[in-house]
Amino acid sequence: MPHNAPTPILVDALSKAYGRGTTITPVLRDITFTVDRGEWVFLVGPSGSGKTTLLSILGCVLSPDQGRVEVLGHDVRRLDPHAASQLRLRHMGFIFQRFHLIRGLTAQENVCVPLTLQGVPEAAARRRAAELLDAVALADHRNKNVRKLSVGQCQRVALARALVTNPDLILADEPTASLDGQHGHAAMQLLRDLTARTGATVIVVTHDPRIQSFADRVLTLENGCLCSGEQPADRPDNDDSTAADSTAADSTLSESNAAEPATRRDSELQPILSLG
Ligand SMILES: Nc1ncnc2c1ncn2[C@@H]1O[C@H](COP(=O)(O)OP(=O)(O)OP(=O)(O)O)[C@@H](O)[C@H]1O
Ligand SMILES: [Mg+2]
Repeated sequence: MPHNAPTPILVDALSKAYGRGTTITPVLRDITFTVDRGEWVFLVGPSGSGKTTLLSILGCVLSPDQGRVEVLGHDVRRLDPHAASQLRLRHMGFIFQRFHLIRGLTAQENVCVPLTLQGVPEAAARRRAAELLDAVALADHRNKNVRKLSVGQCQRVALARALVTNPDLILADEPTASLDGQHGHAAMQLLRDLTARTGATVIVVTHDPRIQSFADRVLTLENGCLCSGEQPADRPDNDDSTAADSTAADSTLSESNAAEPATRRDSELQPILSLG
């Protein structure tokens, strides 16, 4: 993204409800915030507070009912489905708790998918995918079916796939929740290392206190309202340097919630991968 590019995320008085008539459920209420280029913003809050809904709006999968949302300079309410899928394909990378890799394909084939959808010739796509798999230390596993990879390796394939197009904006929904502490921390460190060069903006929905030291800013949602936008004091690089130049602090690690049952939220962001 050029340096004179628009503010990556601008949200002004956003409201969103599900349902209609008497069964209407307000989910997001009068949310306002902006995110600067290269910033790492974490969205936290209790289950059901609207985090995935907000991330889905930032991914142009859902539209706001009220308010203005601009993503990479595009008014989300004015994007038709094709334009939204092109914006996702060309400028966004998505990372999910349960990875959503295509079973039956190799690691390299999975990483190639966004490039193939962009029309990149196969040989070039395979080369670029191999570079990314090398960067996530999976060079030796690139021809393995992803079914045969460990959980931590699958998350690294998912990171490689999210980054293979050099996205301007990365949206991650609980990216470490299926990983143990060590792998969760390593995945975030890798994401920081891989985005350091591109200066991508990163939004992470998380319940995971172990990775919050990676955030420049934490936004807390409660009952659909935004409570705060503080900077974590313990991040070592909250100075004049950009987020893209920074390195992550060590975080205290605890058990993962990999055993958490599958919920509706996985299916919500699935349409992103079909890229319409
Ligand atoms: N498609 C839908 N139809 C109706 N209600 C929905 C829909 N999607 C979400 N909701 C409701 O909206 C509220 C916010 O859901 P959302 O998934 O955004 O929360 P969340 O903060 O991501 O929760 P979690 O931490 O459990 O993932 C919840 O009460 C949920 O039941
Ligand atoms: Mg959620």
